[in-house]
Amino acid sequence: MRTLEQSRHLATTIPGPRSQELIARKAAAVSRGIGNTMPVYAARAFGGIVEDVDGNRLIDLGSGIAVTTIGNASPRVVDAVRRQVADFTHTCFMITPYEGYVAVAEQLNRLTPGSGEKRSALFNSGSEAVENAVKIARSYTGKSAVVSFDHAYHGRTNLTMALTAKSMPYKHGFGPFAPEIYRAPLSYPFRDAEFGKEIATDGAVAAKRAITVIEKQVGADNLAAVLIEPIQGEGGFIVPADGFLPALRDWCRDNDVVFIADEVQTGFARTGAMFACEHDGVEPDLIVTAKGIADGLPLSAVTGRAEIMDAPHVSGLGGTYGGNPLACAAALATIETIEADGLIGRAREIETLMKERLHRLQASDDRIGDVRGRGAMIAMELVKPGTLDPDPVLTGQLCVGCHTAGVIVLSCGTFGNVLRFLPPLTISDELLVEGLDVLELVLKDL
Ligand SMILES: Cc1ncc(COP(=O)(O)O)c(C=O)c1O
Repeated sequence: MRTLEQSRHLATTIPGPRSQELIARKAAAVSRGIGNTMPVYAARAFGGIVEDVDGNRLIDLGSGIAVTTIGNASPRVVDAVRRQVADFTHTCFMITPYEGYVAVAEQLNRLTPGSGEKRSALFNSGSEAVENAVKIARSYTGKSAVVSFDHAYHGRTNLTMALTAKSMPYKHGFGPFAPEIYRAPLSYPFRDAEFGKEIATDGAVAAKRAITVIEKQVGADNLAAVLIEPIQGEGGFIVPADGFLPALRDWCRDNDVVFIADEVQTGFARTGAMFACEHDGVEPDLIVTAKGIADGLPLSAVTGRAEIMDAPHVSGLGGTYGGNPLACAAALATIETIEADGLIGRAREIETLMKERLHRLQASDDRIGDVRGRGAMIAMELVKPGTLDPDPVLTGQLCVGCHTAGVIVLSCGTFGNVLRFLPPLTISDELLVEGLDVLELVLKDL
């Protein structure tokens, strides 16, 4: 088995000379519209380490944005994909189907919350799966409107841009957007505190605010689906107050509206449960998954109640590459790894370690307004001391400081002031602690 030394090591300053060459080639060859977070080019990755082309070994607290949850190039995935690539690379499931696709659908139907009969359909990216979930909900209900939430992120295609809240950088200059999309207020406990303790802590109260907007501005008779991330990802790792998701789910059931959970970022053990909606005891009608589903091979899915999933006419769904055989082989090996290696429990251990450390840091640093998240999806929101005013400048400086010291961290949030941590679940405690040591030192210097 190929391994990579699990230690942080700076062989050059960051970026090193090989990365600098590649940065120059990229500027000349790749569209400016594709940005990069890190100024280094990857050569290898395994466990909790990404090694760059100059031999620098970086602690990975990002997992390629919540994708390599079971660890990069995970051994079972490598074996399964090798076997599959030698057999066949593509036939198109719509032309000559193959077992791997069906097996992934069976696993998704088994693993997602809800005991009734289910079906799945496979696609390539998170955005594509969200689009298909909307198509399925419209087909089932015969209605067209869709509600998404403040701070939501659902992708960069035309329909998912409309569903996404934040303009810059995701939507700015790219309109017009798809019609019949409406936005409702989210439960954002840290920021809702401004409007009173009740709305910040009681999810049912926050849900009432959202439902009033939905009823008055859209109307259940026009509404096909309510689409929500159980914990918002790009919007700032926002965990809604207890009771928010169940109240929305109940309202959808009572009003013949399809409740869609976008678990693209939260799914597959990331939050210390196979799916984040399990923490709230919520069974969505449809669940959208991608990212952590296949350890980096492009795959996404919509899974849900059979009667809804079977609503579209035959051949109404599909695509050339959806459920590619290599990606399906990777997904089956990923699911086996999560279950055999107890990775859901590992995500909970990571939560305990990180929250304990970050809460201690917060107690001595009033620039850290909030520490939140579940499992290995943890964030801290940075503010001007003693206020709720976001501090995106400090957040940017903290990111750059960590990157330069050999730690991959990402920012997010509507206000650009949230530092998020998405370590692979296979990272060692030692590397995790070292990454947080670096973070603390950089923060103290700023
Ligand atoms: C919650 C959520 N939905 C959808 C998407 C879009 O997925 P993709 O980038 O694979 O299209 C993302 C990506 O970050 C996401 O976090």
